[in-house]
Amino acid sequence: PAITHPFAIFGRDRKNAKGWDLSDPLDLAEIEAGRGRFAAPHQWEAGAGSAPREIRNPALPNDVVGRVYEASAKDVTAAIDAATAAQPGWAATPVAERAEILRRIADLYEENAEQVFALCTREAGKTLADGVAEVREAVDFLRYYANQAPRAERDSAARGVIACISPWNFPLAIFTGQIAAALVTGNAVIAKPAEQTPLVAGLATRLMHEAGIPRDVLHLLPGDGPSVGAPLTADPRIAGVCFTGSTDVAQIINRQLAETAPDAMLIAETGGLNAMIVDSTALPEQAIRDILASSFQSAGQRCSALRVLYVQRDVEERVLGMLYGAMDALRMGDPWYLSTDVGPVIDEEAREGITAYCDEMEAKGRLLKRLDHAGEGLHVPPHVFRVSGIGEMQREIFGPVLHVARFDAEELDSVIAEVNAKGYGLTFGLHTRIDIRVQQVVDRLRVGNLYVNRNQIGAIVGSQPFGGEGLSGTGPKAGGPNYLPRFRKRAAGGITV
Ligand code: SER
Repeated sequence: PAITHPFAIFGRDRKNAKGWDLSDPLDLAEIEAGRGRFAAPHQWEAGAGSAPREIRNPALPNDVVGRVYEASAKDVTAAIDAATAAQPGWAATPVAERAEILRRIADLYEENAEQVFALCTREAGKTLADGVAEVREAVDFLRYYANQAPRAERDSAARGVIACISPWNFPLAIFTGQIAAALVTGNAVIAKPAEQTPLVAGLATRLMHEAGIPRDVLHLLPGDGPSVGAPLTADPRIAGVCFTGSTDVAQIINRQLAETAPDAMLIAETGGLNAMIVDSTALPEQAIRDILASSFQSAGQRCSALRVLYVQRDVEERVLGMLYGAMDALRMGDPWYLSTDVGPVIDEEAREGITAYCDEMEAKGRLLKRLDHAGEGLHVPPHVFRVSGIGEMQREIFGPVLHVARFDAEELDSVIAEVNAKGYGLTFGLHTRIDIRVQQVVDRLRVGNLYVNRNQIGAIVGSQPFGGEGLSGTGPKAGGPNYLPRFRKRAAGGITV
């Protein structure tokens, strides 16, 4: 039976305290154009003329979550025109005032949390626990950047109009983090959310405008890469791009900027091929809990997720036996219920791609463990495959798929060398009770976030700045002290301290 959770009192067919019906399809044109209330109306003149696209719940394909009118290349130009004109006035607003608006947005996110959780669950297939974490992280970004802003201001100037291009797997947190950083440092923003999650972005933008961000300083342009992202990053008036998504797209943007706007700033946070080492001194119960969370929470759809687990040979049988037992207790299903551990993947294309990969690995005789699931949602059951090491992995599989390799104690250095050689460097997990081994790994591994004796997902704003190196990103780390300064440039004639 489904466990009753705090939001069950609203049900999926009842209104919440604010009178919002959580089951109502949300019309992004209404939110954003707001019949002229929430956005600069010109943003939507072209888009509103075209047919809206329906967004469906990945867990319940018959649940229409909302409709979105997508922007066109013409809207991109209009939005950049308006943002370019409005940005100097925004930059002239005292930093304390800009920071205060961020704090108001954080308050509004908290006040409207049920609506946001519900939308994260229905549009992005997030479990309720992940939806709660999403709001928490977004609020943390807002307050952290508000606090950091005065320091970033010294002897520097805003850059201009920043394009913020965000992913579907953190439709609120990363969307908000990018925009908050760009805005609080005095820039105007054109936001292009992932085409899978425009409704969460629409709701967030509505709350940002309501908190006091001027309409022309923040524009939301839903649409796909070719029709919105490409013309946006090709416009020479763009002073910077803040991108989270695939390494391939980051490289395209980088080349584009080199041609059209060589002075533009680029922050790219991309993929990972993340590993974990569990040695023979690890506490198995703790390791199992952290392996499960790192590989299968969010259905493995995090750039930080664990993809290749190295287990020391002496304890392999025991650790894998416990892991398979724990996996059998995982429940797949509708993420709306707290009893669901693994929700759906984001869309049909993702399901087909991950399933094809799993079939291929199974045909090669690599399958160690698979859960089964029959249901109407776009679920991929968790899988575990045998590999010799990360070296044989061709690419990141963005789903609940774990690979296991074994190592002997004397091979630790070669495991680290193999992970470094792969060229990614986002997260890494280490389970050991040997202090000198921690130091050995810290000294040699090139990785953005290294977690010892805990899971390797869910970096905390402020205390665990998040970001990778190599193929995983450009830095600086989000949620850390070096992030905001990148959104500023040295003031003409200013002195750098
Ligand atoms: N920041 C997220 C995490 O740490 C990944 O994008 O899991």
